[in-house]
Amino acid sequence: MNTINIDPCQESLISRANKVLPAGSFGNMPSNIVLERGKAGRVWDINKNEYVDFLLGSGPMFIGHAHPDVTKAIIEQAPRGTTFFANNQHGIKLAETICDAVACADQLRFVSSGSEATLYAMRLARAYRKRDKILKFEGGYHGMSDYALMSLAPKRLSNYPQPVPDSAGIPRQVSENIIIAPFNDKETVESLINEYHDELGGVIIEPFQRLIPPEDGFLEMLREITFKYSIPLIFDEIVTGFRFSYGGAQEYYNVTPDLCTLGKIIGGGFPVAAICGRSEIMRHFDKALVGEENFLPQIGTLSGNPLASVAGLATLDVLKSDLSYKKVFDTGRQLMEGLRVAMRNNGHIAEVIGEPPLFDVFFSSKKIKNYRDILQSDAKKAIKFNQLLRERKVFKGDSKFYISAAHDQDDIDLTILAMNDAAEELKKFSFYTNN
Ligand SMILES: Cc1ncc(COP(=O)(O)O)c(C=O)c1O
Repeated sequence: MNTINIDPCQESLISRANKVLPAGSFGNMPSNIVLERGKAGRVWDINKNEYVDFLLGSGPMFIGHAHPDVTKAIIEQAPRGTTFFANNQHGIKLAETICDAVACADQLRFVSSGSEATLYAMRLARAYRKRDKILKFEGGYHGMSDYALMSLAPKRLSNYPQPVPDSAGIPRQVSENIIIAPFNDKETVESLINEYHDELGGVIIEPFQRLIPPEDGFLEMLREITFKYSIPLIFDEIVTGFRFSYGGAQEYYNVTPDLCTLGKIIGGGFPVAAICGRSEIMRHFDKALVGEENFLPQIGTLSGNPLASVAGLATLDVLKSDLSYKKVFDTGRQLMEGLRVAMRNNGHIAEVIGEPPLFDVFFSSKKIKNYRDILQSDAKKAIKFNQLLRERKVFKGDSKFYISAAHDQDDIDLTILAMNDAAEELKKFSFYTNN
């Protein structure tokens, strides 16, 4: 049932991309995917193939592509100026709106990407604590900085807390200042923090790590022990902020960190991210309060620009005033259940994990509670399943269904049909695992 059209127009764009972009791509998705348009819960590629979109631009388009309120806000702002470098009323209003919504946010600073936000959050924690080491979790993603790219996806496993760099070009000294711990393993984390607390500047975690929910009591334990030693706890909420609830994962799981990072949804599809936190720590961005030695300069050309701010504000307005969360959770629950049934009915040993706004299937017989469990799942089978879904007009990233408030019943029905059909087709392929 391969119904994807390919035409010469796309072929020529692909070969042009191959000339000017390393690996022919922007680095995010394979070079043979060229998208042209998005509206609500759908996208169209350059060949006019229409897909139900569960990539959502890697998450920002939570209320759907080209939402009329967001489009209107952008069109009104564009002729009035798109960036000033200086303070402006829309950026200030966006900061107020976020600080009202997010429990740990007394104050915030804007940047343009999630990678920058986590880089500053770690630096801020180190400046406040006057210690160098950061504890991060194996398999946790915090963007592309040298520190974040430690044991994100190691193929060669080392003993905790030894990090493994994920990229060429990272100075060796960075490894000396990162401690790696296993997600959802209370005992190991407690014993590492007890051992290293005097060297730790901060602990950074995705409260929902990629797709893995925290086990009962895990985040609470982390809050308690970091509080005990006065180590700043950073929740990386680039993905979960305004997605799991209006107050983010810290509201959803009811654990408040000292600092958090936000991105994706708060920019409504434009480049905005933020470092948020308690004033006592955020004051390190203010030289007048902390003096030259303790001061963190933080400058960015596009920080808080009015165009991105109005897009973010329009998005947060929609989320605050309507039933978006109920809709997203209803849609996500139906699709998670549809995916489980498709797997079961076709005899695949698989686990669907996540929360309704964000989930996926792993081909594994083991309960998945951390990165090492994911490593044991059948990645080749998952890639094939994604490919079969795409041939059936369901578009997603490698390992995530992002749900939007714009997905409707037609999108759900088409997707469940595609899941069943792809799961049946998948039986024809053999994989090299014990599943
Ligand atoms: C949890 C998390 N942190 C940080 C980032 C980096 O954000 P950006 O791609 O905006 O740099 C991402 C991106 O997906 C993310 O998922």
